[in-house]
Amino acid sequence: MNILVTGGAGYIGSHTCVSLLETGHTVVVADNLCNSRADTLDRVKQITGKDVIFSRIDVTDEAAVNSLFADYSFDGVIHFAGHKAVGESVAKPLKYYRNNIISTIVLAEACQRYGVKRFVFSSSATVYGDNEVPFVESMPLLPATNPYGETKAVCERILIDAAKANPDWSVALLRYFNPVGAHESGLIGDAPDGIPNNLMPYITQVAKGKLDKLRIFGDDYPTVDGTGVRDYIHVMDLAEGHVAALDKLTSGVHVYNLGTGQGTSVLQLVKAFEDANGMKLSCAIVARRPGDIAECYANASKAKRELGWVAKRDLLEMCRDAWRFEKNFMGSCLHS
Ligand code: NAD
Ligand code: UD1
Repeated sequence: MNILVTGGAGYIGSHTCVSLLETGHTVVVADNLCNSRADTLDRVKQITGKDVIFSRIDVTDEAAVNSLFADYSFDGVIHFAGHKAVGESVAKPLKYYRNNIISTIVLAEACQRYGVKRFVFSSSATVYGDNEVPFVESMPLLPATNPYGETKAVCERILIDAAKANPDWSVALLRYFNPVGAHESGLIGDAPDGIPNNLMPYITQVAKGKLDKLRIFGDDYPTVDGTGVRDYIHVMDLAEGHVAALDKLTSGVHVYNLGTGQGTSVLQLVKAFEDANGMKLSCAIVARRPGDIAECYANASKAKRELGWVAKRDLLEMCRDAWRFEKNFMGSCLHS
């Protein structure tokens, strides 16, 4: 299939381009590079030996999106493009609502206009809020605690209604848990700007000596060891989940958790990182981070049952691959 990948120069998008190319799909990336660099796509080509067409456009720009759809005959769209920093979304909510929601509407309208019937959307486990774990797709969603989470819930709603009005559409709403790690080549990975918010990039920067110690946000949660529990998933498993969704989708809207089903605490992840890479990390327990929940992990059985997809890579591979990317690239290759 010929697939439009919006946000394809970003972290999850670039890994998904690799999976798509390796399974025989062709790829057109639309990205405005607001949080990525074009040379990531050169590395995608280096890994796969295949070409990627790149269009530097803003996908909220209706004219630019329409002209892309007119130029290429797409069989489907995977929509990754969006802003994702939770803290920034609280400070700049309109920036988040504009970018994340308008891009989704513009792309869905273009699909309608040009007869493109497959749409895969990047949603997030954040839409479950503080439900009981494990999170199951059928749970009622709880209001998000921040504008970023709210944009994901609103986009899901928009696509559900659009698919009702277009019964021949096949829409996948993929709720990601915590993507970590990097392609095993070490050529592409997570390259956050500035001081990372998320745990794994923070750990790799402590390991490299860029940051002096990991601050562990709270050890008094009702969890296995008091630290927060999450469902970390290797980004290449996540990428393969997108290909499975594209290949297997039938008409209608289908919601899938993309997680491992396994909860891991902060202390367990630190230990796995130390074991995988033969090093010790400097850590300190500090206060809880406002807005954090104690536990977040998936019931991942629906994706297994309906898509034949399961996450295959374990915590040690996630830690090893994240560190390889940090070691190899991050010094010389930061975001612009
Ligand atoms: P990322 O920032 O690395 O990638 C997003 C890409 O979209 C970037 O390359 C950016 O330049 C591009 N972009 C943003 N707005 C654009 C616009 N208007 N037009 C064109 N390009 C635009 O983020 P990521 O981690 O790869 O996340 C991809 C998607 O997955 C996002 O929608 C994010 O909300 C969602 N998601 C991410 C996580 C995570 O932990 N990384 C978890 C759940 C959901
Ligand atoms: C964050 C986002 C969430 C998003 C998810 C996946 C926030 C508040 N939430 O959640 O919306 O869907 O990423 O991208 O940003 N931790 C530390 N020290 C650190 C960093 C994190 O102890 O320096 C802990 C956290 O308290 C948490 C765990 O590590 O228990 C994972 O944190 P993080 O990687 O930020 O992911 P989420 O909290 O799941």
